[in-house]
Amino acid sequence: MIPSARGDALSAIWLTLQDAAERRTAFTAMQLATIGATAAPQIRTIILRRFDQSAGALFFISDRRAPKVRDILKNPNVALAGYDPGSNTQLRMEGRASVVDDEAARRDVWALLRPPTRKMFDAPLAPGTPMEAGLESGHLAAAAWSRMARMSAAA
Ligand SMILES: Cc1cc2nc3c(=O)[nH]c(=O)nc-3n(C[C@H](O)[C@H](O)[C@H](O)COP(=O)(O)O)c2cc1C
Repeated sequence: MIPSARGDALSAIWLTLQDAAERRTAFTAMQLATIGATAAPQIRTIILRRFDQSAGALFFISDRRAPKVRDILKNPNVALAGYDPGSNTQLRMEGRASVVDDEAARRDVWALLRPPTRKMFDAPLAPGTPMEAGLESGHLAAAAWSRMARMSAAA
């Protein structure tokens, strides 16, 4: 690809990611791959919450009990993919992820979440727990924000 064409393509990707973080597009729900505890790849859907072009970073939120958070703490190498059937475009990225541990930053994100999203963090069982283990359990109104991990993946 000639340099200007490459620049144009990159600009289009940055715009696409910005758009996906600001409103719901085909790229808002992405697939995040981590390297699991047994070194087998693990992949799951995750919502893009923020894109910082200058840092080349994408931000996501998760429950810090989630296996993906453990994976990232052990091995920060991640990959992301998204697909827009409308334009038949696939985006694939590789990067290094980290968990944003700053409590003030976590509280800021918590304040922005809508009630249905907050409710997901009230689950007494960790995300990824097999369903039969959770069927008998109710919800706990715990200080759920403290379990919220804000992750960034620098592409
Ligand atoms: C549409 C959709 C959006 C999701 N968004 C998130 C998200 O933003 N953050 C998150 O931690 N899990 C999200 N999940 C749940 C994950 O895909 C996954 O099932 C759960 O977090 C456990 O993942 P883990 O065991 O790999 O950590 C979403 C699932 C779906 C179907």
